[in-house]
Amino acid sequence: MQLGTPLSQYLIEEQRLYPEATGSFTLLMNDIALACKTISAAVRKGALVDVLGNAETDNCQGEQQKKLDIIANDLFIKNNIWRGHIAAMASEEMEEVFPIPEDKPRGKYLLVFDPLDGSSNIDVDGPIGTIFSIMRSDKEHPTEEDFLQEGVKQVCAGYCLYGPATMIVISIGHGTHAFTLDPDIGEFILTHKDIQIPATSAEYSINHANRVKWEKPMLEYVQDREAGVDGKKGKRYTMRWVGAMVMDVHRILMRGGMFAYPIDEGIRAKGGRLRLMYEANPISFLVEQAGGIATTGYERILDIKPSKLHQRIPVIIGSKEEVTDILDYHKAFAAEHDLKFTHECKLYK
Ligand code: F6P
Ligand code: MN
Repeated sequence: MQLGTPLSQYLIEEQRLYPEATGSFTLLMNDIALACKTISAAVRKGALVDVLGNAETDNCQGEQQKKLDIIANDLFIKNNIWRGHIAAMASEEMEEVFPIPEDKPRGKYLLVFDPLDGSSNIDVDGPIGTIFSIMRSDKEHPTEEDFLQEGVKQVCAGYCLYGPATMIVISIGHGTHAFTLDPDIGEFILTHKDIQIPATSAEYSINHANRVKWEKPMLEYVQDREAGVDGKKGKRYTMRWVGAMVMDVHRILMRGGMFAYPIDEGIRAKGGRLRLMYEANPISFLVEQAGGIATTGYERILDIKPSKLHQRIPVIIGSKEEVTDILDYHKAFAAEHDLKFTHECKLYK
């Protein structure tokens, strides 16, 4: 039997490209992979081990927590807290930065994560995932301020998808690669090397229930695609929406398309629906590394300087041709209404 490249081998080979590397990042990634395998095991057992349903708490953003949100958050902390590679962590489920306790060694990395993305899928046995982002810290005791780095500064971005197979998808700035968990040996094996998002597609993913509240550019785009053969692309489009960003984005990495959670009047006061630091930034990094585009409609997501840990922003990502079209609609709208537009689409033409 031919054994593919395990994640651990891929990481060591990457480490060898940097003679000055201490191995700390490689070990941190192994801890993250272990955390994801542990979460995957809990997810797979589902109702058998009483992990479904609501917890009795809300998170710091006023969202009802699921039992698995809390379990996944705890597992991520437990697997990463003691090894000495991290200076501090932050998560969707915790209001404040989580410092490494004084009695544990501290490392040079900051870890930000969404322990269980798409939690509304838990109780219906739908796909869910974990999203993570790693940045550097130059402080031994980092504060929230130290986390507020532009997405381009991420050392590594990734997610683990708990679908029919468990897959981890990562980028450390040298392309986007996917590894599938072989449950027989408990290792992630490289199955999708250097993923390339097709530039064209006939699929889009958006929550249509928000349609009446969208801004004009998004409405114009969707109306054009709905027109099918009578639309500007002259072909029939299809719509897919799982409601777990990790899954909706994974589909785009695998076969192209467009995913958006755009600004709408219902969420304008909050800045958007998805969180910049542990949802939009890592996903945008993976998408750009796979040849796609990630934008708010007006600016490149990875260039945004975060203003707070739980900041929300609009997200539009995917195949170059689709997102370039959406940028064109936004550019025209921005010119009409004197809005700031910095994501120049000519870059992609
Ligand atoms: O964490 C946010 C999230 O669960 C995403 O995975 C998903 O795309 C989105 O929320 C769905 O939100 P809604 O159902 O409110 O439109
Ligand atoms: Mn999420």
